[in-house]
Amino acid sequence: MRIGIYGGSFNPPHLGHMAAARAAIAALELDRLVFVPAGDPPHKELAPGSPSPEKRLEMTALAADQLLLPKVTEVWDVEVERQGKSFTSDTLAEAAERWPGDELWLLVGTDMFLTLHTWHEPERILKLAGVCAFARSLSDDRAELEAQKIRLERDFGAKVELIAIPGLVEISSTQLRVGLSQGEHSAALDPAVYGFILREKLYGTEADLTRLNIDDLRRVSWSMVKAKRLAHIRGTEETAAALARRWGADEDVMRRAAILHDCTKYWTLKEHLALCDRYHEPLDELERSAEKLLHSKSGAVMAKYVFGQEDAVVEAIRYHTTARAGMSLEEKLLYLADYIEPNRAFPEVEELRKLAFEDLDGAVAMGAWLSIQEMEERNRIVHRNTVEAYTYYTRGKRA
Ligand SMILES: [Fe+2]
Ligand SMILES: [Fe+2]
Repeated sequence: MRIGIYGGSFNPPHLGHMAAARAAIAALELDRLVFVPAGDPPHKELAPGSPSPEKRLEMTALAADQLLLPKVTEVWDVEVERQGKSFTSDTLAEAAERWPGDELWLLVGTDMFLTLHTWHEPERILKLAGVCAFARSLSDDRAELEAQKIRLERDFGAKVELIAIPGLVEISSTQLRVGLSQGEHSAALDPAVYGFILREKLYGTEADLTRLNIDDLRRVSWSMVKAKRLAHIRGTEETAAALARRWGADEDVMRRAAILHDCTKYWTLKEHLALCDRYHEPLDELERSAEKLLHSKSGAVMAKYVFGQEDAVVEAIRYHTTARAGMSLEEKLLYLADYIEPNRAFPEVEELRKLAFEDLDGAVAMGAWLSIQEMEERNRIVHRNTVEAYTYYTRGKRA
């Protein structure tokens, strides 16, 4: 295996880091890229007000996930866990132990590359790993980089690769942090990473989560789920908006319901139960044992108490998995949007898509019927709300 080791403060991880990671994976044909956020040793100067190493790890994991290469990328906490000062040579030695026999590449930016020979134990570093330097901006001096490459090869027998990342503007983490503290949204951050910063109130952002505008609500919600789910959430939002226009619901309400509907999808059973119990969300026995049912309940609790959403949004989220008898317009629309959004694929989906724009109650009945069939095929217990929805929305339609 060929493994890239990418260290840094990641304070915060930004689009420049992500572009460099992508470029290194492609140029070196890496099988694995390991982000190694620096720890917080007592003598090292991180900018004042910097998030804890644990928060930087979480942000880096979010940025890594957004590369959508889950089999390639990972975040390694080796430097955060290490006591005292962290040296790259020690990290590479640990990497060599963890991946014996594999080929290691250290990824560094221009500044780091040009001073590499002055680091702690450069000969040990260059024995353990090849070095891949990426030129982050067009202003980087090509001749200087080439000269350093020759020097490292000559003095240390190093393996060196230089890669350019064309069109990438230099991003200063310092400027980024100042901007964030002044309430500016930075286009240099992945939306999910920015959402995490807002949610955790990092870098002096003091967002009131109960009064987020729709763009920030989207970013915060995206920061709570895996990147691979975003296509579904986006699809649900656009479908919910289209259904709102068709059936005369408030488009903004439907967008917010869709944005938040799966925000707790990746929680553990314990996390769902803890939140629902804390806010006295009633749960029946079946719900208490099934994450799939619980994420609607915990999602509704989050929408209401953490994100300050109105009842129409909250109730739509609460019933988006099971449906129920006597649904509000918003509940029906979210239930169907989730069912028919463009990423869904099942034999009856085209028929259901058509029906959702022609006969709303008929579509809800069909959705409930399909769910009942599916659960029975899988030998699962069908929630009574779904059975009741089916009965309710087929009233008078069956001979
Ligand atoms: Fe869901
Ligand atoms: Fe969903």
